[in-house]
Amino acid sequence: MKAVYPGSFDPITFGHVDIIKRALTIFDELVVLVTENPRKKCLFSLEERKKIIEEVLKNLKGVQVDVHKGLLVDYLKKHDIRVLVRGLRAVTDYEYELQMALANKKLYNELEIVFLTASEKFSFLSSSLVKEVAAYGGDVTEWVPPEVAELLYEKLKEGNR
Ligand code: COA
Repeated sequence: MKAVYPGSFDPITFGHVDIIKRALTIFDELVVLVTENPRKKCLFSLEERKKIIEEVLKNLKGVQVDVHKGLLVDYLKKHDIRVLVRGLRAVTDYEYELQMALANKKLYNELEIVFLTASEKFSFLSSSLVKEVAAYGGDVTEWVPPEVAELLYEKLKEGNR
């Protein structure tokens, strides 16, 4: 069965990689879908995020990376995919996730949403936290793959020029 793991991934972290690897033990194929979240201003473009994820996941079998602008359910319907995977880090994620899950289900009744609990060691992690620490020159190498850390420092330097 094929599932979609959507998100902003600005940038992808070890927390996301953990969810992806575990989802692949359940589903035969997983599309990591970089989507627009109109409520967020991202550091990396959609295409940059896609490229970064492809590099990070290049040794994983059964993964495909794609980008989508617009409603998530439109992508799912177009590709005839009925399962969404989301990670839950803490109780605080629950309300937001429930709201999105119910809205998506209203828009696409055949959809099922599978929640995987984030591993404890990554349960505090978020892309914003990584960006904030990196922006102040902190070490993020325990939270993101080395190639992501490098690109992040580069991008932040560009922004400060
Ligand atoms: N490890 C580390 N961080 C994690 C994580 C994990 N396992 N799971 C979630 N996060 C973090 C992300 O890094 C992100 O951090 P940030 O807020 O600092 O960027 C945050 O948790 C949640 O973001 P994400 O999972 O990327 O979701 P999102 O809220 O940015 O976007 C979409 C959710 C993409 C699914 C949603 O915006 C969407 O569906 N967009 C398309 C438009 C649409 O259909 N809208 C209607 C929805 S009902």
